[in-house]
This record gives sequence, C-alpha cells and structure tokens, in this order.
Amino acid sequence: MNIHTYEKLWLVAAMVLIVAFIGTITYGSVGLGIAMVGDDSDSIDPNDVLDDEEFGDPGVQQVGEDEYEVYVRAQTFAFIPGTTEPIEIPEDSEVTFHVTSPDVIHSFSVVGTNVNTMVIPGEVASMTVEFDEPGEYGLVCNEYCGSQHHEMEGLLVVTP
Ligand code: CUA
Repeated sequence: MNIHTYEKLWLVAAMVLIVAFIGTITYGSVGLGIAMVGDDSDSIDPNDVLDDEEFGDPGVQQVGEDEYEVYVRAQTFAFIPGTTEPIEIPEDSEVTFHVTSPDVIHSFSVVGTNVNTMVIPGEVASMTVEFDEPGEYGLVCNEYCGSQHHEMEGLLVVTP
C-alpha cells in the first residue's frame, strides 16, 4: 500500500516537472518573440512591401557625409537594386542595408564582408558595414527560394 502511494507521488511529481518544462519552453519562446519585436528590427505586412515608402522604390539614400542607407528588396529571383543594376556606394562610407522580401524567405549576402542575413517576408533585416576600399562585391542568396534560386545574385560596386 505504501509503495503504491509513493509511486503515485512520483508520478504526480514527474507530471508537474513535465508541465513546468513545457511552460518554460513556451514562456521562453514567447519572451524571445516579444524581445525581437521590441528591438530595432522593423516589420511590415509582406503584402504591403511593394507599396512601402522605402521598399516600393528601393535604392541608395545618402543620410550623412559618408553615411548611406541602402534599401533592398530580395524577391524571386532578384535583388532590387543589385541584380539588373548594381548598388553603387563611394569608398570610405558607412552603409546600412535594410532588406526585406515580399514573397518567400531569401538571404542577402555581400560576398567578402560579414553581411549575411536571412530575409524573412515582411521582416526588415538591417546591418551596417564600412567600405574603405573601392571594389566589386557579389550579392548572393543563400536560402533556397525556388527554381531559380541559384541565379539570384547581384553586384555592389564601391567606387573610388
Ligand atoms: Cu532567393 Cu535563394
């Protein structure tokens, strides 16, 4: 009889632990979600990306003497700008890229730099990099995004 009672107790204890674990995991991810919304990453409705003030007609904007903001739309299967026309930046400049997608998940990677980010529809990925030397950098998509994923590439030119 005693053993039976202990067994029951352990069973209850195990159940409580399992529920507590699940609670921790759920709470953990909810907390993370809130943190992500709260940080400086922006988000827009993917359906509104093409009508967005910045992403509807994306490109390079000079915001300071040597500072630039570059808005890029990553979409099946091109970077706009970048694919049909290169992104042009003068040397010795600090560039903040803002990239989003209107359709599926892509990535935005500037070959030879530490710019390499996943691009989630409607989420604006932002990152800053300095270009000190003139040169050409390839843009590639590292996330499989469909039949022409391997052709999704572009060019960034740092001019003297
Ligand atoms: Cu876009 Cu792969």
